[in-house]
Amino acid sequence: MSQRSDERIPGTGRDTAGAVGPTGRPVRDFPEPPELTEHGPARIIAMVNQKGGVGKTTSTINLGAALAELGRKVLLVDFDPQGALSAGLGANPHELELTVYNVMMDRSVDVWDVVQETEVEGVDLLPANIDLSAAEVQLVTEVAREQVLASALRKVEEHYDVIIIDCQPSLGLLTVNALTAAHGVIIPLIAEFFALRAVALLVDSIEKVQDRLNPRLQIDGVLATMFDSRTLHSREVMARIVDAFGEKVFDTVIKRTVKFPDATVAAEPILSFATAHQGAESYRQLARELISRGGAP
Ligand SMILES: Nc1ncnc2c1ncn2[C@@H]1O[C@H](COP(=O)(O)OP(=O)(O)O)[C@@H](O)[C@H]1O
Ligand SMILES: [Mg+2]
Repeated sequence: MSQRSDERIPGTGRDTAGAVGPTGRPVRDFPEPPELTEHGPARIIAMVNQKGGVGKTTSTINLGAALAELGRKVLLVDFDPQGALSAGLGANPHELELTVYNVMMDRSVDVWDVVQETEVEGVDLLPANIDLSAAEVQLVTEVAREQVLASALRKVEEHYDVIIIDCQPSLGLLTVNALTAAHGVIIPLIAEFFALRAVALLVDSIEKVQDRLNPRLQIDGVLATMFDSRTLHSREVMARIVDAFGEKVFDTVIKRTVKFPDATVAAEPILSFATAHQGAESYRQLARELISRGGAP
Protein backbone atom coordinates (compact mmCIF):
# COMPACT_ATOMS: atom_id res chain seq x y z
CA MET A 1 0.00 0.00 0.00
CA SER A 2 1.08 3.48 -0.74
CA GLN A 3 2.11 5.71 2.12
CA ARG A 4 1.96 8.96 0.23
CA SER A 5 -1.52 10.01 -0.73
CA ASP A 6 -0.25 11.42 -4.05
CA GLU A 7 1.11 8.05 -5.17
CA ARG A 8 0.00 7.31 -8.71
CA ILE A 9 0.90 4.92 -11.44
CA PRO A 10 3.38 7.20 -13.18
CA GLY A 11 1.75 9.04 -16.01
CA THR A 12 -1.70 7.58 -15.62
CA GLY A 13 -2.98 9.65 -12.74
CA ARG A 14 -4.57 6.57 -11.17
CA ASP A 15 -4.12 5.37 -7.62
CA THR A 16 -1.79 2.43 -7.25
CA ALA A 17 -3.91 0.55 -4.72
CA GLY A 18 -4.78 -2.82 -6.23
CA ALA A 19 -3.48 -1.78 -9.64
CA VAL A 20 -1.43 -3.86 -12.06
CA GLY A 21 1.84 -2.46 -13.44
CA PRO A 22 3.29 -2.75 -16.96
CA THR A 23 4.87 -6.10 -16.04
CA GLY A 24 1.44 -7.55 -15.25
CA ARG A 25 2.41 -7.78 -11.59
CA PRO A 26 0.60 -5.82 -8.89
CA VAL A 27 2.13 -2.39 -8.37
CA ARG A 28 4.45 -2.44 -5.36
CA ASP A 29 5.95 0.36 -3.39
CA PHE A 30 9.67 0.28 -2.82
CA PRO A 31 10.48 1.88 0.50
CA GLU A 32 13.17 4.48 1.02
CA PRO A 33 16.16 2.39 2.13
CA PRO A 34 17.98 3.07 5.39
CA GLU A 35 20.97 5.38 5.21
CA LEU A 36 24.35 3.72 5.06
CA THR A 37 26.49 4.25 8.12
CA GLU A 38 29.70 3.28 6.36
CA HIS A 39 30.78 3.10 2.74
CA GLY A 40 32.27 0.43 0.50
CA PRO A 41 33.26 -2.00 -0.76
CA ALA A 42 31.31 -1.37 -3.93
CA ARG A 43 28.91 -3.65 -5.66
CA ILE A 44 29.88 -3.48 -9.33
CA ILE A 45 27.16 -3.45 -11.97
CA ALA A 46 27.67 -3.70 -15.74
CA MET A 47 25.05 -1.97 -17.89
CA VAL A 48 25.08 -4.18 -20.97
CA ASN A 49 23.29 -4.62 -24.26
CA GLN A 50 25.17 -5.10 -27.51
CA LYS A 51 22.59 -2.96 -29.28
CA GLY A 52 23.15 0.78 -29.31
CA GLY A 53 20.48 3.31 -28.44
CA VAL A 54 18.65 1.16 -25.87
CA GLY A 55 19.25 3.46 -22.89
CA LYS A 56 22.48 2.11 -21.37
CA THR A 57 24.15 5.48 -20.94
CA THR A 58 20.92 7.21 -19.88
CA SER A 59 20.28 4.49 -17.31
CA THR A 60 23.87 4.61 -16.02
CA ILE A 61 23.73 8.37 -15.42
CA ASN A 62 20.27 8.45 -13.92
CA LEU A 63 20.45 5.30 -11.81
CA GLY A 64 23.80 6.59 -10.56
CA ALA A 65 22.33 9.99 -9.71
CA ALA A 66 19.33 8.37 -8.01
CA LEU A 67 21.55 6.11 -5.89
CA ALA A 68 23.59 9.17 -4.92
CA GLU A 69 20.39 10.95 -3.83
CA LEU A 70 19.94 8.03 -1.43
CA GLY A 71 23.37 8.76 0.05
CA ARG A 72 25.24 6.05 -1.84
CA LYS A 73 28.75 6.86 -3.04
CA VAL A 74 28.74 6.16 -6.75
CA LEU A 75 31.44 5.75 -9.38
CA LEU A 76 30.34 5.65 -13.02
CA VAL A 77 32.79 4.06 -15.45
CA ASP A 78 32.60 5.12 -19.08
CA PHE A 79 33.52 1.98 -20.99
CA ASP A 80 32.48 3.10 -24.45
CA PRO A 81 35.00 4.82 -26.78
CA GLN A 82 32.14 7.11 -27.87
CA GLY A 83 32.47 8.81 -24.48
CA ALA A 84 28.74 9.56 -24.23
CA LEU A 85 28.68 9.01 -20.47
CA SER A 86 31.63 11.36 -19.99
CA ALA A 87 29.98 13.98 -22.19
CA GLY A 88 26.66 13.42 -20.43
CA LEU A 89 28.31 14.33 -17.14
CA GLY A 90 29.92 17.46 -18.48
CA ALA A 91 33.41 16.14 -19.30
CA ASN A 92 34.69 16.97 -22.76
CA PRO A 93 35.98 13.64 -24.14
CA HIS A 94 38.40 15.40 -26.51
CA GLU A 95 40.10 17.33 -23.75
CA LEU A 96 40.79 14.39 -21.46
CA GLU A 97 44.48 13.72 -20.87
CA LEU A 98 43.94 10.49 -19.00
CA THR A 99 41.06 8.06 -19.26
CA VAL A 100 40.11 4.54 -18.27
CA TYR A 101 42.21 3.45 -21.24
CA ASN A 102 45.42 4.69 -19.57
CA VAL A 103 44.45 3.13 -16.26
CA MET A 104 44.07 -0.24 -17.98
CA MET A 105 47.02 -0.17 -20.33
CA ASP A 106 49.67 1.66 -18.31
CA ARG A 107 50.35 0.31 -14.83
CA SER A 108 52.16 3.51 -13.83
CA VAL A 109 48.94 5.51 -14.15
CA ASP A 110 47.16 5.84 -10.81
CA VAL A 111 43.40 5.42 -11.15
CA TRP A 112 42.86 8.21 -8.60
CA ASP A 113 44.54 10.64 -10.99
CA VAL A 114 41.89 9.80 -13.57
CA VAL A 115 38.70 9.66 -11.50
CA GLN A 116 36.88 13.00 -11.59
CA GLU A 117 34.20 14.52 -9.42
CA THR A 118 31.09 15.55 -11.34
CA GLU A 119 28.49 18.26 -10.87
CA VAL A 120 26.25 15.59 -9.41
CA GLU A 121 26.91 15.30 -5.69
CA GLY A 122 28.04 11.83 -4.72
CA VAL A 123 28.79 10.76 -8.30
CA ASP A 124 32.35 10.39 -9.59
CA LEU A 125 33.37 9.53 -13.13
CA LEU A 126 36.09 7.38 -14.62
CA PRO A 127 35.96 8.89 -18.12
CA ALA A 128 36.68 7.51 -21.57
CA ASN A 129 37.22 8.78 -25.06
CA ILE A 130 38.10 7.40 -28.47
CA ASP A 131 41.48 6.17 -27.14
CA LEU A 132 39.58 3.24 -25.65
CA SER A 133 38.86 1.90 -29.13
CA ALA A 134 42.50 0.79 -29.34
CA ALA A 135 42.17 -1.30 -26.20
CA GLU A 136 40.03 -3.96 -27.85
CA VAL A 137 42.97 -4.90 -30.08
CA GLN A 138 45.76 -4.24 -27.58
CA LEU A 139 44.16 -6.31 -24.86
CA VAL A 140 44.32 -9.44 -26.99
CA THR A 141 48.01 -9.86 -26.18
CA GLU A 142 47.75 -8.89 -22.49
CA VAL A 143 48.22 -11.37 -19.67
CA ALA A 144 44.79 -12.25 -18.21
CA ARG A 145 43.24 -10.01 -20.83
CA GLU A 146 39.69 -10.43 -19.52
CA GLN A 147 40.65 -9.25 -16.01
CA VAL A 148 42.32 -5.95 -16.77
CA LEU A 149 39.36 -3.73 -15.83
CA ALA A 150 38.69 -5.76 -12.68
CA SER A 151 42.22 -5.17 -11.43
CA ALA A 152 42.10 -1.50 -12.47
CA LEU A 153 39.00 -1.03 -10.28
CA ARG A 154 40.37 -2.92 -7.28
CA LYS A 155 42.05 0.15 -5.85
CA VAL A 156 38.88 2.29 -5.89
CA GLU A 157 36.19 -0.21 -5.00
CA GLU A 158 36.70 0.15 -1.24
CA HIS A 159 35.74 3.79 -1.57
CA TYR A 160 32.33 3.45 -3.26
CA ASP A 161 29.04 1.72 -2.55
CA VAL A 162 28.14 1.18 -6.19
CA ILE A 163 30.18 1.20 -9.39
CA ILE A 164 28.24 1.15 -12.66
CA ILE A 165 30.07 0.34 -15.90
CA ASP A 166 28.47 1.83 -19.02
CA CYS A 167 29.41 -0.67 -21.76
CA GLN A 168 29.84 -0.11 -25.46
CA PRO A 169 27.36 -1.73 -27.83
CA SER A 170 29.26 -4.94 -28.53
CA LEU A 171 30.04 -8.27 -26.92
CA GLY A 172 33.77 -7.91 -27.54
CA LEU A 173 36.69 -8.03 -25.15
CA LEU A 174 35.86 -4.72 -23.46
CA THR A 175 32.40 -5.94 -22.54
CA VAL A 176 33.86 -9.26 -21.37
CA ASN A 177 36.18 -7.20 -19.12
CA ALA A 178 33.15 -5.40 -17.69
CA LEU A 179 31.31 -8.68 -17.07
CA THR A 180 34.41 -10.13 -15.42
CA ALA A 181 34.73 -7.13 -13.09
CA ALA A 182 31.03 -7.08 -12.17
CA HIS A 183 28.86 -8.65 -9.51
CA GLY A 184 25.71 -8.02 -11.49
CA VAL A 185 24.37 -7.09 -14.91
CA ILE A 186 21.51 -4.78 -15.75
CA ILE A 187 20.13 -5.27 -19.27
CA PRO A 188 18.26 -2.26 -20.62
CA LEU A 189 15.85 -3.33 -23.33
CA ILE A 190 13.68 -1.24 -25.63
CA ALA A 191 10.13 -2.49 -25.45
CA GLU A 192 10.05 -3.56 -29.12
CA PHE A 193 9.76 -6.99 -30.68
CA PHE A 194 13.17 -7.22 -32.34
CA ALA A 195 14.85 -6.34 -29.03
CA LEU A 196 14.33 -9.81 -27.61
CA ARG A 197 16.31 -11.69 -30.24
CA ALA A 198 19.58 -9.92 -29.42
CA VAL A 199 19.20 -10.70 -25.74
CA ALA A 200 19.56 -14.46 -26.24
CA LEU A 201 23.10 -13.86 -27.48
CA LEU A 202 23.83 -11.56 -24.55
CA VAL A 203 22.58 -14.11 -22.01
CA ASP A 204 24.81 -16.70 -23.69
CA SER A 205 27.84 -14.40 -23.21
CA ILE A 206 26.91 -13.76 -19.58
CA GLU A 207 26.70 -17.51 -18.95
CA LYS A 208 30.10 -18.11 -20.55
CA VAL A 209 31.68 -15.45 -18.35
CA GLN A 210 29.97 -17.02 -15.32
CA ASP A 211 31.38 -20.45 -16.23
CA ARG A 212 34.89 -19.46 -17.17
CA LEU A 213 35.82 -16.20 -15.50
CA ASN A 214 33.43 -14.86 -12.91
CA PRO A 215 31.17 -17.32 -11.07
CA ARG A 216 29.73 -14.58 -8.84
CA LEU A 217 28.16 -12.78 -11.81
CA GLN A 218 24.37 -12.59 -11.84
CA ILE A 219 21.68 -10.86 -13.83
CA ASP A 220 20.36 -8.16 -11.51
CA GLY A 221 17.51 -7.27 -13.77
CA VAL A 222 16.08 -6.50 -17.16
CA LEU A 223 14.97 -2.89 -17.52
CA ALA A 224 12.34 -2.01 -20.11
CA THR A 225 13.11 1.41 -21.58
CA MET A 226 11.33 3.75 -23.98
CA PHE A 227 8.07 2.11 -23.01
CA ASP A 228 4.88 3.55 -24.48
CA SER A 229 1.91 2.39 -22.44
CA ARG A 230 -0.54 3.73 -25.01
CA THR A 231 0.44 1.20 -27.64
CA LEU A 232 -0.72 -2.38 -27.67
CA HIS A 233 2.67 -3.20 -29.18
CA SER A 234 4.59 -2.01 -26.11
CA ARG A 235 2.25 -3.88 -23.79
CA GLU A 236 2.57 -7.10 -25.82
CA VAL A 237 6.34 -6.85 -25.83
CA MET A 238 6.32 -6.32 -22.06
CA ALA A 239 4.34 -9.54 -21.71
CA ARG A 240 6.95 -11.36 -23.81
CA ILE A 241 9.84 -9.92 -21.82
CA VAL A 242 8.17 -11.07 -18.61
CA ASP A 243 7.59 -14.53 -20.16
CA ALA A 244 11.29 -14.75 -20.97
CA PHE A 245 12.80 -13.29 -17.79
CA GLY A 246 10.11 -13.61 -15.11
CA GLU A 247 11.05 -12.00 -11.81
CA LYS A 248 14.27 -10.65 -13.33
CA VAL A 249 12.24 -7.94 -15.07
CA PHE A 250 12.24 -4.81 -12.96
CA ASP A 251 8.78 -3.61 -11.96
CA THR A 252 10.11 -0.18 -12.79
CA VAL A 253 9.65 0.64 -16.45
CA ILE A 254 11.13 3.72 -18.13
CA LYS A 255 8.69 5.49 -20.42
CA ARG A 256 9.59 7.16 -23.67
CA THR A 257 9.81 10.91 -23.24
CA VAL A 258 11.65 13.68 -25.01
CA LYS A 259 12.95 14.90 -21.64
CA PHE A 260 15.71 12.28 -21.87
CA PRO A 261 17.26 13.56 -25.11
CA ASP A 262 16.79 17.09 -23.75
CA ALA A 263 18.75 16.17 -20.61
CA THR A 264 21.41 14.50 -22.77
CA VAL A 265 21.88 17.74 -24.71
CA ALA A 266 22.12 19.66 -21.44
CA ALA A 267 24.79 17.17 -20.23
CA GLU A 268 22.86 16.52 -17.04
CA PRO A 269 20.97 13.68 -15.41
CA ILE A 270 17.22 14.06 -15.82
CA LEU A 271 17.17 13.97 -12.00
CA SER A 272 18.58 17.50 -11.92
CA PHE A 273 17.47 18.70 -15.38
CA ALA A 274 13.80 18.01 -14.71
CA THR A 275 13.82 16.88 -11.12
CA ALA A 276 10.08 16.41 -10.66
CA HIS A 277 9.52 14.82 -14.08
CA GLN A 278 8.09 11.34 -14.21
CA GLY A 279 11.27 10.12 -15.94
CA ALA A 280 13.33 11.28 -12.97
CA GLU A 281 10.87 9.62 -10.58
CA SER A 282 11.17 6.36 -12.54
CA TYR A 283 14.92 6.23 -12.03
CA ARG A 284 14.46 7.03 -8.34
CA GLN A 285 12.07 4.11 -8.14
CA LEU A 286 14.58 1.92 -10.01
CA ALA A 287 17.24 2.79 -7.44
CA ARG A 288 14.91 1.83 -4.58
CA GLU A 289 13.87 -1.36 -6.38
CA LEU A 290 17.49 -2.33 -7.05
CA ILE A 291 18.36 -1.84 -3.38
CA SER A 292 15.31 -3.79 -2.23
CA ARG A 293 16.35 -6.67 -4.53
CA GLY A 294 19.85 -6.68 -3.03
CA GLY A 295 21.45 -5.31 -6.20
CA ALA A 296 22.98 -2.37 -4.36
CA PRO A 297 23.74 -1.66 -0.69
N1 LIG B 1 13.20 6.68 -21.95
C1 LIG B 1 13.62 7.37 -23.00
N2 LIG B 1 12.77 8.05 -23.78
C2 LIG B 1 13.19 8.76 -24.85
N3 LIG B 1 14.47 8.85 -25.24
C3 LIG B 1 15.39 8.19 -24.52
C4 LIG B 1 15.03 7.42 -23.38
N4 LIG B 1 16.16 6.87 -22.86
C5 LIG B 1 17.18 7.29 -23.63
N5 LIG B 1 16.73 8.09 -24.64
C6 LIG B 1 17.51 8.73 -25.70
O1 LIG B 1 17.85 7.72 -26.64
C7 LIG B 1 19.17 7.92 -27.11
C8 LIG B 1 20.00 6.67 -26.83
O2 LIG B 1 20.07 6.46 -25.44
P1 LIG B 1 21.44 6.01 -24.76
O3 LIG B 1 21.19 5.99 -23.29
O4 LIG B 1 22.56 6.84 -25.26
O5 LIG B 1 21.56 4.52 -25.31
P2 LIG B 1 22.84 3.56 -25.38
O6 LIG B 1 23.81 4.00 -24.34
O7 LIG B 1 22.27 2.19 -25.12
O8 LIG B 1 23.37 3.67 -26.77
C9 LIG B 1 19.71 9.15 -26.42
O9 LIG B 1 19.52 10.27 -27.26
C10 LIG B 1 18.82 9.29 -25.20
O10 LIG B 1 18.68 10.64 -24.79
MG1 LIG C 1 25.85 4.50 -24.56
